[in-house]
Amino acid sequence: MAGSPRHNGNTDILVERALKGAHESGADVVLVRLRDLSIDHCQGCNCCFDAGECRIDDDMTHLYQLLDEADVIILATPVYFSGLSSIMKQMIDRCQCLWARKEVLGARIGSLGRTGALISVGGQNPPEFKNSISVVKSYFNSIDVDYRAELLVPAVDEKGDIMNNPTFLAKAYDMGVSLVSEIR
Ligand SMILES: Cc1cc2nc3c(=O)[nH]c(=O)nc-3n(C[C@H](O)[C@H](O)[C@H](O)COP(=O)(O)O)c2cc1C
Repeated sequence: MAGSPRHNGNTDILVERALKGAHESGADVVLVRLRDLSIDHCQGCNCCFDAGECRIDDDMTHLYQLLDEADVIILATPVYFSGLSSIMKQMIDRCQCLWARKEVLGARIGSLGRTGALISVGGQNPPEFKNSISVVKSYFNSIDVDYRAELLVPAVDEKGDIMNNPTFLAKAYDMGVSLVSEIR
């Protein structure tokens, strides 16, 4: 899931490499670009505590289904003010209904043993990655995903800077390969 508002930026490039690795290892992959979706913010109404469903009807409805079906989830985001991009955080907050399904209603989310990873890029050297890691670990825990890998890339600021860094491009590809190999 790509969480940068910048089309073809560093986040897009890295997540596409990871999905290429996953696809070439035999996985069915779906690339979700959050900037292309219409996702409202969580209203904090707690309506989802009754049945684990969000009452807002927008593009999250389809995304909930994808999240439920996925064996591996990769979240990719630029560092924005030492944290996740707002569109990534907005998506995460809308998964409060999945948290409610698990923690209030006692259901499992998705298949057993599913895993996830974080890809993040920042312009500074080094950027502050720890806040994003903390949020993503908390999120994955809430949707029954084991935080398995991370690729944290400093000092890429301009659009496409990452293309000058073949080492990290290869690491992204390898991440996709190894996440798929673990589920077989
Ligand atoms: C609103 C905003 C806030 C940012 N905050 C940070 C920051 O706190 N730390 C950092 O290292 N880079 C920060 N950056 C730089 C981006 O992380 C960097 O340009 C990154 O490569 C963008 O990824 P993209 O090409 O996928 O959009 C910020 C950029 C923007 C637009």
